[in-house]
Amino acid sequence: MIHTGRHFLQIPGPTNVPDRVLRAMDMPVMDHRSAEFAQLGKEVLDGVRAVFKTAGPVVMYPASGTGAWEAALVNTLSPGDRVLLFETGHFSSLWRAIAEKFGLKVDYVPGTWRHGATPAELESRLKADTGHTIKAVMVVHNETSTGVTSRIGELRRAIDAAKHPALYLVDTISSLASIDYRHDEWRVDVTVAGSQKGLMLPPGMSFNAISEKALRASETAKLPRAYWDWQEMLKPNRTGFFPYTPPTNLLYGLREALLMMKEEGLENIFKRHDRHAEATRAAVRAWGLEIVCQEPKEYSSSLTAVFLPEGQDADKLRAVILENFDMSLGAGLSKLAGKIFRIGHLGAFNDLTLMGTLSGVEMGLKLAGVPHKAGGVLAAMDSLMASQKKSEPAAVAR
Ligand SMILES: Cc1ncc(COP(=O)(O)O)c(C=O)c1O
Repeated sequence: MIHTGRHFLQIPGPTNVPDRVLRAMDMPVMDHRSAEFAQLGKEVLDGVRAVFKTAGPVVMYPASGTGAWEAALVNTLSPGDRVLLFETGHFSSLWRAIAEKFGLKVDYVPGTWRHGATPAELESRLKADTGHTIKAVMVVHNETSTGVTSRIGELRRAIDAAKHPALYLVDTISSLASIDYRHDEWRVDVTVAGSQKGLMLPPGMSFNAISEKALRASETAKLPRAYWDWQEMLKPNRTGFFPYTPPTNLLYGLREALLMMKEEGLENIFKRHDRHAEATRAAVRAWGLEIVCQEPKEYSSSLTAVFLPEGQDADKLRAVILENFDMSLGAGLSKLAGKIFRIGHLGAFNDLTLMGTLSGVEMGLKLAGVPHKAGGVLAAMDSLMASQKKSEPAAVAR
C-alpha cells in the first residue's frame, strides 16, 4: 500500500523529531577541535543541566541509553558489590543483566510488571542491611515496557528513613523532559538518560547526570572502564571539548531542542504530557480495554500500555494499524509480547497528534476484529476539552 502524508511514529521512543531540530542539524560537519565547536560544546553541556534540574555536571556519550546504563555502573561500583534493583519490567531486567555481567551481586526485588518500585519495601530492605553492604539502589523511573512510573522522590525519602548510604542510580530514559524529575532535590547520584525520547532528538546520544557523592565514589570504584570513564570526559568538557569524536550534528539538534524546551517551560511540558496521558486513558477505558499499570499514582505520562482481551493478538492489531494507517505503535516486550500494545504520547506532540493516534487505534481495533466498545476517541476529546476549558479564563485575562 502506498502511504501519503507523514508516518505516525507513536512508539514510546524514538519519538518524532520537530522540524526545527531537523533543520538545526542540517549543517556541515565541523572540526570538533575548533574554537567554534568548543562554544557549542560549552553551551549544550551547560544548558542541558536545567532539564535534569541539577547544578552539577552532566556528561554526554555518543551512545544509546544502554551505554549510559553501563557508564553509571562502571564509574561508581567495584566487582562483587551488592546492588538493589526493582523488577519493574523489561528494562529493569536488561539493566540487571548488565550489572551481573560486571560481577555485581544484584538483589532483584520481584515485581508484577504492573506496579513501580515500592518505597516501603525499599525502606525495609535497606533497614535490614545493617552492615551497609548494599552499595547502590537502581530504579527505572519510567518503565517503558509497561507504562508504570516509579516515585523517585518518595523512594529517596525511603532511603533517608533507613539512614542508608547507598548510591541512588535512576534511569530516566523515557521520562526526562516528559515527567517531573529533580536530580538535585531528590539527591539522585547518577541519572541515566537518552536523546531519543522526551528530548526530541534522534537516537545516538546518552547522558549521566552526576552528584558529588557519585564523583567521589568514582575515585575508588574498581570496575574496569575506558570509554565510559567520567574523569576522562570531565577534563575536556570543562573547555567544551570531548575526549573522542562527539556527535557534532546531534549537538546542534540538542541546542535547538533545549531552546524549544525553554520556550515552552519544563513545568508546562510536564502538564502537557499529563493531560495527553489522561485523555489516552479515557479512550482506553471507553474501549473497555485494560491499562497495564494498576496503580493510578504510577500512571505514566509518556506512554500508555494496553492489554488486548484474552486470545487476541496485539501484534496483529499493530500490523493492521501500520498497514492501513501508517502508524507505528509499541510492541509488547518479552513476557508481554503479543499481549499488549503501547501508545507513545511523549516528546514533540499535541492534541491533534493524540486524536490522530487514537483514531488510528480505534479504527484498527475495528478492522482487526478486536472486541471493544466504540467511543474511545470521543472520550479522549471530552477529556482534552475539559482541561482546555479550565485554562480559558486565564487566556481571556491576558
Ligand atoms: C527505560 C529504558 N531504559 C533503557 C533503555 C535502553 O536504551 P537504548 O535502547 O537507547 O540503549 C530504554 C530504551 O527504550 C528504555 O526505555
